[in-house]
Formats: sequence, structure tokens, C-alpha cells
Amino acid sequence: MAESVADPARRTWLTITCGVGAVGGVATAVPFVASFTPSERAKAAGAPVEADIGGLKPGEKMVVEWRGKPVWIMRRTPEQLESLKKSESLVADPKSERTQYPTPAYAKNQWRSIKPELFVAVGICSHLGCSPSDKFVSGPQPSLPDDWAGGFFCPCHGSTFDLAGRVFKNKPAPDNLEVPPHTYLSDSRLLIGEDKKA
Ligand code: FES
Repeated sequence: MAESVADPARRTWLTITCGVGAVGGVATAVPFVASFTPSERAKAAGAPVEADIGGLKPGEKMVVEWRGKPVWIMRRTPEQLESLKKSESLVADPKSERTQYPTPAYAKNQWRSIKPELFVAVGICSHLGCSPSDKFVSGPQPSLPDDWAGGFFCPCHGSTFDLAGRVFKNKPAPDNLEVPPHTYLSDSRLLIGEDKKA
């Protein structure tokens, strides 16, 4: 039933069940998954998810769920894009060359996205899987450097990321935030989970 999927408690349960399944078998997960409608089953299996980004204003971020993971969609301001030039020499993998979470070719650029202003990333830290917090306000503040230009902060072990999800040097997180496959169906419709068809 639809409400089962919208209920965070049930979703957590499913996540836990999957983890246990790796050790003790997957039989217990089947009845729950079978209660999904066909489209929900497809989503859980990794079907692409469409997001309406028409109302997303500069400086705002929205979150959609894809494959059980939070995917951030952020419309960056010109100042925020400018800050990426400054962080270029401070991040561990400025050109997204590491292969643990391969960055799609169309996002291997300074802003790590197809359209410079629109950032799309899986909001899960590459260290141990916490979800980093938004720290968009620049300047000195607790746990961040005095010259902070805006970005994301993982509260679990202190990793910091710039506004393109690039991890700063000498932090526990080994990699940049993952950029999922995505493509634009129109100016206001984004498809996450699928690259543009050739
Ligand atoms: S999980 Fe993010 S720093 Fe450890």
C-alpha cells in the first residue's frame, strides 16, 4: 500500500531487513516488498525518479529519494558558484578523478553538474554513510574554518564538502559526494537514475 512506503518507520524497517538478509537470507523481506504497488516496487529496485524543479529558487535545495537514498538538488547562486573557484586548491579531488564513486563524464567539471547552477548529488558521506548538513552561510562558525565559503558539514566525524560536494583535504571522508546518473527532460523536469539516451 502506498502509505507503507511514505512511512519513514517502515522504510527504516525495510533497510534493516535488507541488511539482515545479507546474513540470514532474504525471505522475510519478500512479503513487505510484495505489498508495494508496481511503481513502488520499481522505485525500490532502482527505477529512475522524476523531480519537478520548476519552483526551486537560487540558494534552495530539495531532496528526493532514489534507490532508498536521499538525492539533493540545489540551485546555486552566482556567488555560490564563484566559491567553487576558491575551494579548487583546498579539496582532495578537485577534478573528480577518483573511481570509488565514479563521477559521470558530464559532471567532471568544477561545478560537478550538467548545468552549472544545478547541483545533483547523493546526500550520503563517503566516510561511513551519515548525511551531511547544509552549511550555506559563509564565515566563522563552530566546527568550520573561519574562511568558510559555504558547503556541507558531516557531523559524524567532521568531513566538510564544498558546494559541488568535493571533500576538503585531510578529512575522514575519502571521496567526493556521489553524483548520480541524471538527465533533464525539460527546464523544470529532472530524471534521476538515468543518463541521457544517445
Ligand atoms: S560519516 Fe561523514 S565524516 Fe564520518
